[in-house]
Amino acid sequence: MPNDMNNPIEITPAQRALFSSTLDEMARKVAQDEPTLGVEFPHVTSPDGAWVRQPASLSAGYTGDSWSHGNWLCGFWVGLLLASYQHTGESRFLLWARERMRLVAQRAEDPNTHDIGFIFDSSAIPGFDITGDAWYAGIALEAAGKLRARLVTTRAGAYLASWGPMNDPRGRCSSAIDTMANLSLLYWAANYSGDASYRLAARAHADISAKAFIRSDDSTYHAVEYDTVSGERRRGYTFQGAFDESAWSRGQGWAIYGYVNTARETGKREYLDLAERLATYYLKRLDGRQVPPWDFDATGADADIKDTAAAAVVSSALLELGRVHPDPAAGARWRTHGLAMLEALCRTEVASEPSQRGLLKNSCYSKPHNEGVDGATMFGDFFFAEALCRVMMPGRFRPLPAHPLAII
Ligand code: GLY
Repeated sequence: MPNDMNNPIEITPAQRALFSSTLDEMARKVAQDEPTLGVEFPHVTSPDGAWVRQPASLSAGYTGDSWSHGNWLCGFWVGLLLASYQHTGESRFLLWARERMRLVAQRAEDPNTHDIGFIFDSSAIPGFDITGDAWYAGIALEAAGKLRARLVTTRAGAYLASWGPMNDPRGRCSSAIDTMANLSLLYWAANYSGDASYRLAARAHADISAKAFIRSDDSTYHAVEYDTVSGERRRGYTFQGAFDESAWSRGQGWAIYGYVNTARETGKREYLDLAERLATYYLKRLDGRQVPPWDFDATGADADIKDTAAAAVVSSALLELGRVHPDPAAGARWRTHGLAMLEALCRTEVASEPSQRGLLKNSCYSKPHNEGVDGATMFGDFFFAEALCRVMMPGRFRPLPAHPLAII
């Protein structure tokens, strides 16, 4: 039986105290930092522990040949404000979330990036779920339309192009494994509006990605370049991993997260099986650790660089896999893994020094670009908070469907 508000995940009193004090720490840091940000948003921390900040307005795009992801992290701050509201009940967090949402809302018009899913699934959707205010839902729906418009239809199926204007051939032929985690926005839009085309687009993307991204050993490519006519994979490559054939740990996490959500939203067992295979590969490469290296195939000193954000994403995904799994014993096994990862993050990776403004230490945004290595990242903190909320307040940050689809 899925866990819900009446059937919560069983944890020990020590775990409850640990998770609760970590949420306290999150709310405390967020409340201290919010009044210091002006119109900018936290991105990654610099070596001194301070947030590097960016305006929400920074769109993705090319300047000549150089690509910028833009500010795809701004929505996560709104999400942390909302999680802090749910944890503390203090109305100031809700007021801040609304003000921040106004600054982020303009990005719902951004046609240049799949990250529009991350931006609004972490902000407008929980904003709507928590307040019931249709203003949030309208913003999320506009964003979902932009994501759906990134669909490229080929003879072998359709995929969502991840990066850049759709009329730019460099971006049009490429997709990233991260996009699997962006599908949540489309599933929400289908459920909210009753327009199944959002779900069809998400499912088409999940199907072609299963063929193009997943290697025979169940590891994943970070990115794939497609033949836009035949839909064949021209090449698999990486942007943030160690090398093209390596197993970038966060990419594996995005894949697990995306296929768990796809199983829940479609009720199809094939996606659950795929999520389990991807998670089994991840656990095998963890080899008893709870936090992965930034890339499972990194060598030398680089192999010691961790990615707590990957651990947070996978913890959240495995807790959800445990909840939706139709086999209670298998569900319990995945939940145990998700909880163990979450507990390890709380015990060893929370930044308690006052100068460290992020929540999770040792996140790794991009080792190849030497950006956000060894500090906190806004997405790491968000998925950590999401996992904590799944355990400590089920249904209050991510709602539990009243009539869940049976996965068959
Ligand atoms: N672009 C998503 C990530 O850095 O994982």
